[in-house]
Amino acid sequence: MCGIVGAVAQRDVADILLEGLKRLEYRGYDSAGVAVIDSRGELRRLRRLGKVQSLADAVHASPTPGGIGIAHTRWATHGEPSEANAHPHMSGDIAVVHNGIIENHETLRDQLKAQGYVFTSQTDTEVIAHLVERELKSADSLLAAVMAARTQLHGAYGMVVIDRQQPDRMIVARSGSPLVIGFGIGEHFIASDQLALLPVTRKFAFLEEGDVAEITRQSVSVFDKNNEAVVREPQESTVEHDAGDKGEFRHYMLKEIYEQPQAIANTLEGRLFNGQLNLEALGDLSDIEQVQIIACGTSYHAGMTARYWIEELAGVACNIEIASEFRYRKSVVRPNSLLVTISQSGETADTLAALRLAKELGFARSLTICNVPGSSLVRESDMALMTRAGAEIGVASTKAFTTQLVGLMLLTVALGRGRGLSTDKEKQIADALTHLPGLIEKALGMNSAIQQLAENFAEKHHALFLGRGDQYPIAMEGALKLKEISYIHAEAYAAGELKHGPLALIDSEMPIVVVAPHNDLVEKLKSNIEEVRARGGELIVFADEAADIRPEANMQVMDVPHCDDIVAPILYTLPLQLLSYHVAVIKGTDVDQPRNLAKSVTVE
Ligand code: AGP
Repeated sequence: MCGIVGAVAQRDVADILLEGLKRLEYRGYDSAGVAVIDSRGELRRLRRLGKVQSLADAVHASPTPGGIGIAHTRWATHGEPSEANAHPHMSGDIAVVHNGIIENHETLRDQLKAQGYVFTSQTDTEVIAHLVERELKSADSLLAAVMAARTQLHGAYGMVVIDRQQPDRMIVARSGSPLVIGFGIGEHFIASDQLALLPVTRKFAFLEEGDVAEITRQSVSVFDKNNEAVVREPQESTVEHDAGDKGEFRHYMLKEIYEQPQAIANTLEGRLFNGQLNLEALGDLSDIEQVQIIACGTSYHAGMTARYWIEELAGVACNIEIASEFRYRKSVVRPNSLLVTISQSGETADTLAALRLAKELGFARSLTICNVPGSSLVRESDMALMTRAGAEIGVASTKAFTTQLVGLMLLTVALGRGRGLSTDKEKQIADALTHLPGLIEKALGMNSAIQQLAENFAEKHHALFLGRGDQYPIAMEGALKLKEISYIHAEAYAAGELKHGPLALIDSEMPIVVVAPHNDLVEKLKSNIEEVRARGGELIVFADEAADIRPEANMQVMDVPHCDDIVAPILYTLPLQLLSYHVAVIKGTDVDQPRNLAKSVTVE
């Protein structure tokens, strides 16, 4: 999704801005642009369709010295991807970059046009530039003009405004789209994600909803939604990962798949030692009678898996819903309900809106299971269980998902203690989690075999993924991974549902991927496999040897290391991630930045 970088410094900022944009590339975008006020006081803007590198080439071909500038990667919402629609947008001496959506842009556009403003793009953002320019005519400062402009904007924004006439300050405003201020010595920065600024600072202050700030080289003044001065204390960043480094790996996605043993060990650090689970961070959940999980995409699949665990192991009622549905329907909240949001980024607009709505609906408290410290979901929830997966750059979520599952297993234990969960069962879970990083390492040994398997798969146009019980959401996750990076149409079904419709799709052109750990449902699953075989389907079964599923005509069986049932959903995710990855590589798609997708979905 769109990315913002801005800087005001005593040195030239163009390279800082471009490096920042490169670090935001993983979020997904279609065009990029930069505007710098140069040493002669000219406002110079360059925009390019496509990759940040072509913008960087253009900047380097026509050097743009200057100590203040803003830059942007755009993910089209209003108006096609094009150079004219790329940010920054300008009006007179004003230049603006913006993340989010201005919902009343049409009304404002009509008003501004009637007043003589000429629009050169189809974007909602251009109205902000003209609005600030108009307000500046009667305001006594750029800050006052932005404050006046924002009262007329409906929708979501994170924006940065500069003025050629005042080349010593940036005005930034946040409502619905995150912004973080970076603190240097005699210089300050702004970005939509701290990753963009890690090469220049590790000291950050997060703006709160409704904040506006005036940022100069020497000072940062922040005002809240009522325009009252407030202090947003800078903190040292705990983000360790250098997003720019793929190491020995060809893609971030593969690197992140291979990081899972360590990522899971990090999730468990301090929470599991000597076979004992320490869940103090989750507090006392004994009053909780019902859990409502809200999430999107892959995080939703983690929540779906957890529903099986929370009801079966903890004995607590659990519902799960997609955030974009929950936020727009009337739901009934039972007393003593815990709201759980799950998010890799902590900034997903729908999930955040659902959390805000839930606060009004009367949930007892809210917990987020999240990977990004300081993100909006973490700051706005009552409790946070950090997954500690490290920065995930590939748009397709991998280690963020498996660490979410580990976090959700910890939540299951915390909920189950003193009710559905026996001490023996808790010990079994602790043992299974202890061995999990090693098992994941072992499962990575399937890589070459899966790479070969992918050769046949890459020519297919459709695929089905099947699972039962807590493996059904894993089949859904496998199908989502394949769709998003290889563009092959894939659907997942609970295997028992096949005969109610999808069986009609089965023929020799339809690969069917099955996840088959050795659990209570395996005999039922075998019958479903036979239903498919009898109709000429081409099966690929990821199975535990103990499940006793043997290769047959039209059926390949891939051995998955034996594991405790309890952690099987986490382990069986691995081969499905590798399968999607290799299919995408063979098809030659952009694995880390698949078309039309964004890493952090900060608009509705
Ligand atoms: C995962 O591969 C996807 N890119 C996507 O479904 C993602 O999980 C979803 O957009 C939710 O994001 P979040 O976890 O950051 O809230």
